[in-house]
Parts: sequence; structure tokens; C-alpha cells
Amino acid sequence: MSGYVVWFTGLSAAGKTTIAGGVAAELEARGVVVDSLDGDVVRTRLSHGLGFSKEDRDTNIARIAWVASRIARAGGAVLVSAISPYSEARRRAREQVTQHAPFVEIYVATPLAECIRRDPKRLYERALAGEIGEMTGVSSPYEAPTAADLTLDTTDVAPADSIAAVVACLEELDLVPRSAVRRLVR
Ligand code: ADX
Repeated sequence: MSGYVVWFTGLSAAGKTTIAGGVAAELEARGVVVDSLDGDVVRTRLSHGLGFSKEDRDTNIARIAWVASRIARAGGAVLVSAISPYSEARRRAREQVTQHAPFVEIYVATPLAECIRRDPKRLYERALAGEIGEMTGVSSPYEAPTAADLTLDTTDVAPADSIAAVVACLEELDLVPRSAVRRLVR
């Protein structure tokens, strides 16, 4: 199978990392070579030192897209989870990747109120108290995708169900081998 990029976009705490982690495990179980580029991790390495201005976020996304396109070109499946709030930066990421490999956009559309309720890193609490600026959804914009391949709202949905929905989407696109059980019943 050739490589491709699955790009998860959505607010902080929407569930991107959790879903991508589950999808990675499922793909690996099917023999796919997978790499994950997660915003929080990338920002400690490749994008260390970047902040959250529009310019820095656009640089972050461009770097991730470039690396993802290289891995996909070499045959890997790449799971990107980054807020990637600006539609123009996502369009450029798609353009970069599709020179080499398919690009699948997954919009993790968990509403802001639910992300604020979860707030695992207490970032929303601090942003709403004015202690940190440029917080996506609070003091920095999020431009929602209008033509994602799949849109998931994780409110009241078990992670396993969201993960299964993404895997099914990739099967539909013929990007992953169907599991043995499903192959038998089809
Ligand atoms: S992106 O906008 O450039 O795509 P990215 O996904 O890499 O963002 O990083 C977002 C992560 O940085 C969040 O999950 C959160 O943990 C952390 N973070 C720290 N400050 C902010 C902020 N002001 N806005 C959004 N996320 C922030």
C-alpha cells in the first residue's frame, strides 16, 4: 500500500490525539507502517520555540505538512493531530501532501463548550482568566473546515466509536486493508 496523510483538525481538547492514537494502533495491527505527528509533541521538537501567533502557527503547520509529505512519499501512513486553525494553512498542507500522496481531512468538531468542560490542561481556564493569550476558541480564531472527509463530534461518543469511524472512512477510500473478519462477510 502507498502512503497517505490523515490530518486531524479541531480545538484543543476536542479529542484529536486520542482518536489518532487509536487509529494508529488499529492500522499497525493491520500491518501498516504508521507515524504520528502530534501538535504537542512536534512543538517540543521540530517546532520548538514557536508560539501561537498566526505566523508561528502557519510555520508549524507548514513544517508538519512537509515532514508528513516526505513520510507518505516513502510509503508510510501519517497521522497528524494539530489544531491547524487557519483554513488557508490547511489548504497549503493539502497542496504539499497531494504532490506525493492522498490527504484525508478529519474534522474533530467537538464544540468549544465541551472542550472547556474537559479542559485537561486547564488552558481554557487560564485563557478565560486572561492569564494566557491567543488561545484558540477564546482569543484566537478557529476556522472550521467546510469539506472534511469526515466530521466527528466526540461529545457523548466513546473514543472506540470515533476511532472505528475513521478506520471505516479509510477503508472506504481504499487506503487500509479491511480487517479479516469484515473481509469474510463482504
Ligand atoms: S497549531 O495551532 O499550531 O496547530 P498545535 O496543535 O501545534 O497548534 O498545538 C496546540 C497545543 O498547544 C494545544 O493542544 C495546547 O496543549 C497547547 N497550547 C498552549 N497554548 C496554546 C494556545 N494559546 N492556543 C492553543 N493551544 C495552546
